[in-house]
Amino acid sequence: MKKLIIRGGKALNGEININGAKNSTVALIPAAILADSEVVLEGVPDIQDVHSLLEILDEFHVKTSFENNILKIDPSQMQSIPMPTGKIQSLRASYYFMGATLSKFGEGVIGLPGGCFLGPRPIDQHVKAFRALGAVVEDEYGVITLSTPEGLNGNRIYMDVVSVGATINTILASVRAKGKTIIENAAREPEIIDLVTLLNKMGAKIRGAGTSVIRIEGVDRLEGTTHTIIPDRIEAGTYISVAVAMGNEIKINNVIFEHIESFIAKLNEMGAKMEIGEDSILVHRSDDLKMVSLKTQPYPGFATDLQQPLTPVLIKASGKGTITDTIYPQRVKHIPELNRMGANIKVDGDIIRVEGPADLTGAPVRASDLRAGACLVIAGLMADGVTEITGVDNILRGYSNIVEKLQEVGADIQMIEDDEQE
Ligand code: EPU
Repeated sequence: MKKLIIRGGKALNGEININGAKNSTVALIPAAILADSEVVLEGVPDIQDVHSLLEILDEFHVKTSFENNILKIDPSQMQSIPMPTGKIQSLRASYYFMGATLSKFGEGVIGLPGGCFLGPRPIDQHVKAFRALGAVVEDEYGVITLSTPEGLNGNRIYMDVVSVGATINTILASVRAKGKTIIENAAREPEIIDLVTLLNKMGAKIRGAGTSVIRIEGVDRLEGTTHTIIPDRIEAGTYISVAVAMGNEIKINNVIFEHIESFIAKLNEMGAKMEIGEDSILVHRSDDLKMVSLKTQPYPGFATDLQQPLTPVLIKASGKGTITDTIYPQRVKHIPELNRMGANIKVDGDIIRVEGPADLTGAPVRASDLRAGACLVIAGLMADGVTEITGVDNILRGYSNIVEKLQEVGADIQMIEDDEQE
């Protein structure tokens, strides 16, 4: 079992480089299989979720090579293979193979996704969209079987909830459908723009990405291309939180400020000292932080994925504040762990109530999901004494070289292998 051991309390200095976005990459890889020839993705993060997707591609007979953050995907020999169980169930994003195999083969069998437990994560909007395009969708004990007795035909689809996953799956399923598809109430996340940029380079005809109405004119075929993935706004927000919590002066490189504007606005409200550069953010030592309240919302609102990494920073601030996660109200598993370290936080129905400042002390804690893990790493860096984090695989799913990146700025953090079973 892997463990992270952090000796906290050290002031941090230096630079941190941000990778390509995980949530873009996990959509772009399934999108790449729609091409008839090789797709090259640059800036691909070396994270567990990417390796899981590569294993799935291998099972589909798609050839790949992954070196120096460059991923080459050759789908020319891909076969339509049912995947009811196995690796496909290990990550949430593998559900993009539903839209992608529908588009490529007019069929697919995909075991329901795993991924972080954040409360219920229904896929009703994905299924509604597939059916609107003419697919027959059956769900038997969590295995989704898709077929298209009469092909896929464009349609007008209104999303009842703003969903990143359902928007992406609908784009994938409709990109080669006959005629025009219009997605209304679409999600507007930068990752959707990135996906559409890739697909359009491959020959798709998609307009409106980044707005709530996306128009897709179906095309017959898509070709290989080369594409660089956008920077990871959640990784950037995580390291900015590290910098505000413990930095003397830390520069975060490869950041698109506009993608984290709502997050930066909250930090400004707290009194954090930052300088925004062209593609970097310099964070100065920030004392006397003020408590704030925040509500997560679909993009461009405050990202649910940054709620947990920002929580340790709130613990440093004076006063009372609330966090309301309107996307995943049950994303609260980090709270008992933070309290074990000395925080004063209550979960009150769907509202998290924080009272600060509180001094944190190192303790054994468990990362129940990816962003809870990021939160606990930051808390560990802030705490007096030693913090021991288990559930490390959850963190490695989405943060590449997290130990090395933090060591580079002076953190006392190590990953060890312990014989004990988790
Ligand atoms: N929803 C439905 N029905 C659906 C789909 C979604 O009710 O058919 C609801 C969800 O339950 C949720 C809301 O709609 O309340 C938004 O969910 P969305 O579909 O946007 O989330 P997702 O696509 O499953 C992606 C990211 C998450 C991130 C959310 C929200 C990926 C692979 N995952 O998930 O990222 O939290 O969008 O921005 O892109 C993470 O990186 O740690 C992570 C969990």
